Amino acid sequence: MKFETYEGNLQDLHADVLVLIMDSQNELFQLEDEALQERVAGAQAQFTGGKLSRELTFAPKGLDNIDTVVIYHSDLEKNYGFWENIKTFAARGLRLGAETARPRVAFALNSEAGLEHVGKVVEGALLGSYSFEKYRQKPRKLFEDCVAVIWTQSAEKAREQIERAEILCHATNATRDLVNESAAVITPAALVRKAQDLAASHNLQVEVWDQARLTQERMVGLLAVGAGSEHPPFMVSLSYQPEAPSDVHLVLLGKGVTFDTGGISIKPADKMHLMRGDMAGAAAVLGAMEIIGQLKPSIRVTALVVAAENSPDGKSMRPGDILSYRNGKSVHVENTDAEGRLILADGLIHAGDIGATHIVDVATLTGAAVRALGYSFTGLMGNNRTLINAVTRAGGNHGEAYWKLPLPAEYKEYIKSSVADINNIGGPVAGATTAALFLQEFVPERTAWAHLDIAPTFWKEKPWKYFGEGASGVAARTLADLAVNWAENTAR
Ligand code: BES
Ligand code: ZN
Ligand code: ZN
Repeated sequence: MKFETYEGNLQDLHADVLVLIMDSQNELFQLEDEALQERVAGAQAQFTGGKLSRELTFAPKGLDNIDTVVIYHSDLEKNYGFWENIKTFAARGLRLGAETARPRVAFALNSEAGLEHVGKVVEGALLGSYSFEKYRQKPRKLFEDCVAVIWTQSAEKAREQIERAEILCHATNATRDLVNESAAVITPAALVRKAQDLAASHNLQVEVWDQARLTQERMVGLLAVGAGSEHPPFMVSLSYQPEAPSDVHLVLLGKGVTFDTGGISIKPADKMHLMRGDMAGAAAVLGAMEIIGQLKPSIRVTALVVAAENSPDGKSMRPGDILSYRNGKSVHVENTDAEGRLILADGLIHAGDIGATHIVDVATLTGAAVRALGYSFTGLMGNNRTLINAVTRAGGNHGEAYWKLPLPAEYKEYIKSSVADINNIGGPVAGATTAALFLQEFVPERTAWAHLDIAPTFWKEKPWKYFGEGASGVAARTLADLAVNWAENTAR
């Protein structure tokens, strides 16, 4: 798909489809054509009066260069805010053109408000046209010939937004590719290679710890979780250093379980295939670094990926094993399927060692978060209100919703163990919270920490907003935004 900008008048605008996105407050476009103006005003009344419950499509009169006009209105989708609606309708308009062999789709954004929203349209178009096609005999190339024409007051300013959105969406779609891909391909070593590729293309520092180094450094969680797999565990860090020195060192820690069978506490077969996506946290922090490497925030950022495959085998860790972490804490492994927290613990300890001032971990951590929140909200917990609010705000800039769950010290009782300092599972209740309380035991002192449980949001079982089925790429844009707009996001 290509993007073009157009600064001229409506009469000379050439398009197969012209998309008009409406809202009661926002006026994204202005039309000099009277007939069309009337049509739009009529549609506006019908939408808000409830008489139109789907998009309105028609052939415009007196405009020879435009085949079809389609009008969307925010009243069509009341569940989401205007930005999300813009993206959803941009994706829908483009699909309408692509599916009806009318590949030249123009978006009317030729007002001041329109100019501000160019990035949203482009985001909707790029995220909405993604699908994982690699394994089909005949990959679908629905959007290949599409041209999205941005009708704007300022081609120059529109271009800036197009380029920025392209960076965000390329990284998000790369994150989705990693998560959609099979676990036979995306092994811990493959995540390491991905980090190395990013380091090379975006001038980042990369450091890889293999099994021997992990043993030396007593990274007992990674070693134990990876013990049963043919694919050895790794820890990899990918660092961005700003030009001017920064007091802030943000560590983005991602859970990279490349396949979670549950281990000896094996999972039921139903839906187990989705556990190839149990590295979605790792994929998100790598995606964020792809953006950060290009948008160059003023703070220091390190992505830390803890990668292992959780497989049952004669060499696997067993329920009842006890791990002694290098921060001195011992953990009783009551259930080998609660493996994410075991490897994140290593990552949290290491984040302290490399001088993190702020840590955000991202993990497909608990089924309990899915039961609590459904599929539209990522669970959010942490020890620092400013950081929690900053994550929420950064997510809000991209339509990624975070919902704070409680983290009461009172519930630490649930992760008590009779043989070790803590148990790796809690009781039958508050599973997302007890998992986070476990992590908190490993958060370095005086470090602001937020935990994102993306189990609810990493995967779409059916199309949602502008996403098709499969991996959503959640948190990559949020984490990049958190870093890029650090001052705004952390301001009160
Ligand atoms: N990777 C899973 C969590 C998960 C479940 C992610 C569904 C995405 C969708 C995690 O490792 C796990 O197995 N958690 C267990 C914890 C339990 C044993 C305490 C769970 O949630 O059931
Ligand atoms: Zn598990
Ligand atoms: Zn897992």
